[in-house]
Amino acid sequence: MDLNAIRAERGKWMEWKNIAPLREAIASLPDFHAECLSENTVALRSDQPIDMANLERIARMMMPWRKGPFDLFGLFIDTEWRSDLKYNFLRPHFNLRGKKVADIGCNNGYYMFRFLEDAPAKVVGFDPSALFKSQFDLINRFAKTDIVYELLGVEHLPYYEEKFDVIFCLGVLYHRSDPVAMLKGLRQGLEDGGEVYLDTFIIDGDDPVALCPSESYSKISNVYFVPTLKALENWCIRAGFKEFEVLGTVVTTSDEQRRTDWIESQSLEDFLDPADNSKTVEGYPAPKRGYVRIKKG
Ligand SMILES: C[S@@+](CC[C@H](N)C(=O)[O-])C[C@H]1O[C@@H](n2cnc3c(N)ncnc32)[C@H](O)[C@@H]1O
Repeated sequence: MDLNAIRAERGKWMEWKNIAPLREAIASLPDFHAECLSENTVALRSDQPIDMANLERIARMMMPWRKGPFDLFGLFIDTEWRSDLKYNFLRPHFNLRGKKVADIGCNNGYYMFRFLEDAPAKVVGFDPSALFKSQFDLINRFAKTDIVYELLGVEHLPYYEEKFDVIFCLGVLYHRSDPVAMLKGLRQGLEDGGEVYLDTFIIDGDDPVALCPSESYSKISNVYFVPTLKALENWCIRAGFKEFEVLGTVVTTSDEQRRTDWIESQSLEDFLDPADNSKTVEGYPAPKRGYVRIKKG
């Protein structure tokens, strides 16, 4: 697979008519280096003057902001997801110091900015979204980190020029119609001895089975499989992983996902059955996530 040809092709996405104005807006901003605080809210700080009304106008051009929160010189971006909750859940389980790290499905890079607190050797994000890359580029115009953002998908990982010590793949597996193939690809992306941190929607139960939503799950049309933890373990073993460890399970609540002023669309409250919040509007078990660590061995 010729990744450079794919990069060149996808680079043209930045010229799309909905994306080009975002690129021009970012380029029009002052160019200075700001401190980037890797805290629950990823925050930019500087003494340099900046037109805050213009900055807000540009940030709002990039809505919806799903992952965060961010604080751009005092402009608080209250994203749909409190991604700090997921990050803080995983935080005690990893140490990225000196490691080559990939975040697959990195969205606007919220977790990648947070990884920097560990001083990893390298951070690479994969996400085939020109909008989310533009959000990343807005933050990174000022943070000026060495994070590499690739407009590539998980399907390109086996062909990537480098292997990784640690791969995060959060909230992506349920979007893949062939989950075992995706897991094999993650394994191929690892150095020997490497590990993956993964979360996915799960259903309760001890049997190795998965829910296959007919049209949508929680109003998300591209959710293909929602496994029990046992089914997830079997997928990982079939993909060649040697160790599978459950780090925990978390029911999604409106503390973590809710409509804010920074998205225009529906959120969790619209996805659940109003008469019974233990079910989605489709009648499936409400969103619950399993967090696992899997090792190449
Ligand atoms: C549900 S979000 C999860 C974002 C983040 N990892 C998290 O857990 O908060 C799924 C992300 O996967 C990205 N995505 C879509 N297709 C992908 C693909 N083929 N490979 C990797 N990521 C993809 C989307 O753009 C989106 O940012």
